[in-house]
Amino acid sequence: MLAGHRGKRIVLVPTMGALHEGHATLMRQARTLAGAGGIVVASVFLNPVQFDNAGDLATYPQTPEADLAVCRACGVDVVFMPTPSVMYCADRSITMEETHLSTVLCGAKRPGHFAGVCLVVSKLFNLVQPTDAVFGKKDYQQLAILRRMVRDLDIPVTLHGAEIVRESDGLALSSRNVRLTPEHRAAAPTIRRALLEAQAAYEKGASVAEVCRCVVDTLFRIPGVKVDYVELVDAETLHELKDESHMALLAVAAYFGDVRLIDNIELTRKA
Ligand code: PAF
Repeated sequence: MLAGHRGKRIVLVPTMGALHEGHATLMRQARTLAGAGGIVVASVFLNPVQFDNAGDLATYPQTPEADLAVCRACGVDVVFMPTPSVMYCADRSITMEETHLSTVLCGAKRPGHFAGVCLVVSKLFNLVQPTDAVFGKKDYQQLAILRRMVRDLDIPVTLHGAEIVRESDGLALSSRNVRLTPEHRAAAPTIRRALLEAQAAYEKGASVAEVCRCVVDTLFRIPGVKVDYVELVDAETLHELKDESHMALLAVAAYFGDVRLIDNIELTRKA
């Protein structure tokens, strides 16, 4: 796509559109990484193959005009906004499955989701040929899986993780937040408060089970909320935390009505 730019940094920000301040932060980080002589590319593509739930795909917000304005304001040079038929042949038959990190957390709850993410991101890497790509740490597992994909397939791109961007009340920004009812929107920052309480408890020596129980109990008290999972795992392997000197990841997914929200926090034991 961008042949002829050898020597310059090409920084890709893959998105599914419905852009918000979280995406804008990724784009500004990409702009800084690219520098004045580099190129920032944003892709806006609602990738159907990563949705395990047809209802979620059908109700996912789409705001192409506003998305272009966000890209422009953040100094993006090229916006790639393909249709599904541009991205996928009707008889496509190649899959891209990561088989270890994808078996837990969201991967265990959303069959095929990360295979769809790996497929589209590898296609975007082939099309754009970026030197760098920026992803948000709200999708912590996604970033870990994509790092593994790049490592195992020798894809020549450096991945950068960007910190989670939050509303002033602590709710992690997500394109799905606009679908929350007013009651659920008001209650949703409880996720962040529960994670911070859990962090304090973990630092004081609470066990993995105690930490998870505390978050589940807090979320359980909110009417209309269904906890999908609360897990404390090794932040690198995403599997059981066998050595507590390692960084841990406390990850949460919960349905507020039919809107699935995720959030996470990195935890370390205080010496
Ligand atoms: O994080 C997202 O928005 C999507 O999973 C991604 C990386 C753009 C792939 O469709």
